[in-house]
Amino acid sequence: MATSVPRPPAHAALVVRSLPSASAEEREKILEDVEYNVFAFPAGLLTCDFLSDSGTSAMTDVQWAALVRGDESYGRNWGYYCLLDAFRDIFERGTNRHNVMDKVLAGKTDVAFYQTKLLVSSKGGFVNGGRHQLEHPNFFILPQGRCAETLLFSTMSAMIAEGYGSHPEHGKPAAIISNGFFDTTGANAAVAGFNLQTFTQPGLTDPFPSALIGVKNNFKGNLDLAATRAYLEANPGKVSMILVTITNNWAAAQPVSMANIRGAASLAKFHSIPLFLDACRFAENAYFIQRYEDGYADKSIADIVQEMFSYAEGFTISLKKDGLANMGGVLCFRDQGLFAQRYEGIGMLLKERQILCYGNDSYGGMSGRDLMAASAGLYQVTDQAYLCHRITQVQSFAQKLQANGVAVLSPPGGHAVYLDMDQFFFGCNRKLEDFAAVGFTLELIKKYGIRAAEAGPFGWAYDLKPIEERSKIPNLVRFAVPRHVYSDEHIDYTVAAIRDLYERRHTVPNAVITRGKHMKLRHFSAGLKPVAVDQAINDSFLGEASRQLRHLSTATGQDAAAAEELTQALALVTGEWGKMAVPKQLDTTRWTSGVSNDGSAVEYSVSIDQGTGKAELRFLTEAQPLGNSWAHLVEAALRVNQDIRKSYPSIVSLERFDAIRDLFLPPSSPTEMKLAAWHSCAWSTSKGPQWKIYLDPCAAGKENATQTAREAFSRLGLDTGWRLIEGLLGPNDRVIYFSLDLASNTEEARVKVYIAHGGADATSRAVVAEVAQKHASICPDADAFEIQRFFAAMAGDEFGRDNSSNGRKSLISCFAFSGKTGERPVGTVHFPVDAYAADDAEVKRRVDGYLIDVGASVAARERYAMVLAAAQRRPLSDGRGMHAWVSLKQRAGGKMDNTLYLCPEMFGPRGAF
Ligand SMILES: Cc1ncc(COP(=O)(O)O)c(C=O)c1O
Repeated sequence: MATSVPRPPAHAALVVRSLPSASAEEREKILEDVEYNVFAFPAGLLTCDFLSDSGTSAMTDVQWAALVRGDESYGRNWGYYCLLDAFRDIFERGTNRHNVMDKVLAGKTDVAFYQTKLLVSSKGGFVNGGRHQLEHPNFFILPQGRCAETLLFSTMSAMIAEGYGSHPEHGKPAAIISNGFFDTTGANAAVAGFNLQTFTQPGLTDPFPSALIGVKNNFKGNLDLAATRAYLEANPGKVSMILVTITNNWAAAQPVSMANIRGAASLAKFHSIPLFLDACRFAENAYFIQRYEDGYADKSIADIVQEMFSYAEGFTISLKKDGLANMGGVLCFRDQGLFAQRYEGIGMLLKERQILCYGNDSYGGMSGRDLMAASAGLYQVTDQAYLCHRITQVQSFAQKLQANGVAVLSPPGGHAVYLDMDQFFFGCNRKLEDFAAVGFTLELIKKYGIRAAEAGPFGWAYDLKPIEERSKIPNLVRFAVPRHVYSDEHIDYTVAAIRDLYERRHTVPNAVITRGKHMKLRHFSAGLKPVAVDQAINDSFLGEASRQLRHLSTATGQDAAAAEELTQALALVTGEWGKMAVPKQLDTTRWTSGVSNDGSAVEYSVSIDQGTGKAELRFLTEAQPLGNSWAHLVEAALRVNQDIRKSYPSIVSLERFDAIRDLFLPPSSPTEMKLAAWHSCAWSTSKGPQWKIYLDPCAAGKENATQTAREAFSRLGLDTGWRLIEGLLGPNDRVIYFSLDLASNTEEARVKVYIAHGGADATSRAVVAEVAQKHASICPDADAFEIQRFFAAMAGDEFGRDNSSNGRKSLISCFAFSGKTGERPVGTVHFPVDAYAADDAEVKRRVDGYLIDVGASVAARERYAMVLAAAQRRPLSDGRGMHAWVSLKQRAGGKMDNTLYLCPEMFGPRGAF
């Protein structure tokens, strides 16, 4: 039977460290003192530090025990032997480990033990033993990973200059191909004269279905074998090495599959090139293979590691990662292998340089204690339960962020979670050179004492790169998770902090570089400064609305051409007034448009298919009159009609409008001037732009609204349809809008009538039930239960309160007739959600809850979140009115669409009730 009890914990904390309590003001002062450089912020004042997973592990008690057993003798302390044999055990022996370290730890090392275990001569692998290590050294201890890189590349380069390495171009280092060079690795290779070729498998930033996280993995860290093959074929003899980084730190900590390592090895073999691994996170990579690669589920981590390394000629490793140690590194290569043959005698040369720069081969710059801790760490890090905890923690960190609407690079990799900052600031009008992601990291330290690192335009020097290279730069913030250090409490705190900044993302500062713009690896040393973001709109109506429309276009999955068409359509209908600057406050001396909640003369709407998540984007606008009279309103509306007809002659027809025009645009001004006409334009991939006009049935008198609509229906040949509508009208129902597709395709063109259901407010169970019943009675596809469920969800806690006296907005029904639908209409119900929720955050909660409740697809739910983000210019909890209406349309086959009506808020949100 399935159980809800989670996996048992993998470790317990026996040593704890109290964390500092500093206030946001205090941290801000310190940030100022360190020139807003996150690397320079004192770690002792942080609550959670995700700057790096390197050397930041909490060691296990076994490692601490080993550390105490450290011996600091200069020549051949026993930590040296332990490390050598740990490497043989872990990287070569699979499950047949010798575990000689256990005896050393227990202090049971007599002469016989030295003779039979530690000093035994052996050769052929990565760690020669006994005399062979002296005569043919192939294993080099170093202080950390980058020292191994320096040693390797500089020595290779020196030997190539002497004619080694078998290149036709003797004397010059050739290319190194990699799935991703860590920055020091790349820098070391480049300094040694190698030419770097990075071939990461394409698709790193491709979306990954959140439901498949933890179920599948597409090994986005792989080497692009096709590109590698092509390069090798095009450049025979010009490649010195293939270097595969496992996991691929350069590519967001993504794993590399066994098949890929095998493929790289066979390419390397075919071209007689040594394959090396950058093995910093070998154990995490092995766990991914075991968990996600076909054929490895039943294999032990020990066996998987053995197979991974069986393909390699050598490797570098920083023991600060999957050595679980705080210091240490190693370089080793296969004795008598291809590399050893190509660079004959390199072992001795490496040893000389090792001794010269780092210390003799017994310790290479590591203390005896650290050798012991790292040796023990190598065993501990391959423990199944540990790895499961480790990878699951990083994965759940990512999933918790996603669940809070924060986009992460997915699936999460092994040691870090990467926030997708393009998505984070989507719709916020930030340019890459604004360094908003740095602003985010500064804000995170200031407010919450959490440190993460920008890995984007600032770190990768976007501003200094040629234009053609800029598009390759990712926009990420990395949260590298130290091993064994943080619990779920820390992760939850961090997720909540990130969510808070996400909700307030419009106010997160940008950053400017104040010092060191041109420095190499400037993120370590440059000075910066946060810059508050100007929230004011410094653009014309058209400029600002086009910006929002473009974001919405992206959010609805449209291509650039569609966005262009829509913004051109907007430019057409907004004409001269669209070019006016948006004033700081709504100018109440001019005509105030009713299309949107705050008086902006444009409203956006997006309809989302609950099943597929496909969306249609529209805007609604009102031509702004030159004066506030009825004649001016009519004149402006008619001008737009003509403009549309002229610009879209093949798809627009005014014939039907002309047939009813006199009913809605009488010569004399109505008692209550609401509108002369509004125009909307929708864009869908299948149909392109579709124009529609909205008219006011009360224009010829409120009391005549029903008669006006009846007459319009009649003139358009819809008498039967109207009879159905009129049969529904009760004493509290009012005809409030009439609309017409301005399409020349008469079969498709719709006539729509909108009915407001008054009497009680929109929370009334009775009104809701009545409206649902009305739809079910005349619309073939309407389901009364679904309509009631929708209304109840939109009313939230207020459902059933039935406060008929407060005069809040009414429910609205829309009935659409067209040649295609025949005599019976397609119905849509509209809920005026802005009038029934304290703020837009509450609206979002209701819509989210509703979509989950009706079983809407993940794609639909994600679409909804993105659409809101595209139009939003403030935290949703700061007010209400942005989310104006939500509607439900039911189509044949039980298909349902929801439409969100969004206010551009050029003049700010509505206040609280
Ligand atoms: C993939 C990779 N290679 C090499 C290194 C360099 O190791 P170290 O920091 O020990 O010099 C790192 C460090 O983060 C790394 O992630």
